[in-house]
Amino acid sequence: MRTLDYSSLDEKRVENVVKGLAQLLADFQVYYTNLRNFHWNIKGRGFFVMHAKFEELYNDAAEKVDEIAERLLQLGAVPESKFSEYLKVANVKEAELVECGREAMDNVLGTLRLLISQEREVLKAASEANDEVTVALMSDYLKGQEKLVWMLVAFSTKRQREE
Ligand SMILES: [Fe+2]
Repeated sequence: MRTLDYSSLDEKRVENVVKGLAQLLADFQVYYTNLRNFHWNIKGRGFFVMHAKFEELYNDAAEKVDEIAERLLQLGAVPESKFSEYLKVANVKEAELVECGREAMDNVLGTLRLLISQEREVLKAASEANDEVTVALMSDYLKGQEKLVWMLVAFSTKRQREE
């Protein structure tokens, strides 16, 4: 029995969606691990705020990892589960030990830039395959991440000196 036989989706047309989601899965796995690194290792005055924020972000990333993998299964693919394989294809690179909050925030913003761009690719492929479920999933991710980008940029920007 095959899932696609029941979902009225065309196997050929969802090929690019599967490819894009597999890439996104690898990138989210490395992102998750980097967020753990930041959560554990940052030091200094912003510790309490950033320690908590990184926990919120890695929990969110873990949820997305699961959603992406399960969407791949729904599309008839087998999600990669080996970290060694993720590292071979991920565009997000493993971070070295990061103790500086600003460096960690810059890393997160750089990763969001990559993820957002990849999600737009997946959304386009899903739209071409009439795969509304993946379109909606990517749209949800983009909505949350564009808001997060605004907040992280605001957090990282020095305010104008008050009169
Ligand atoms: Fe913790």
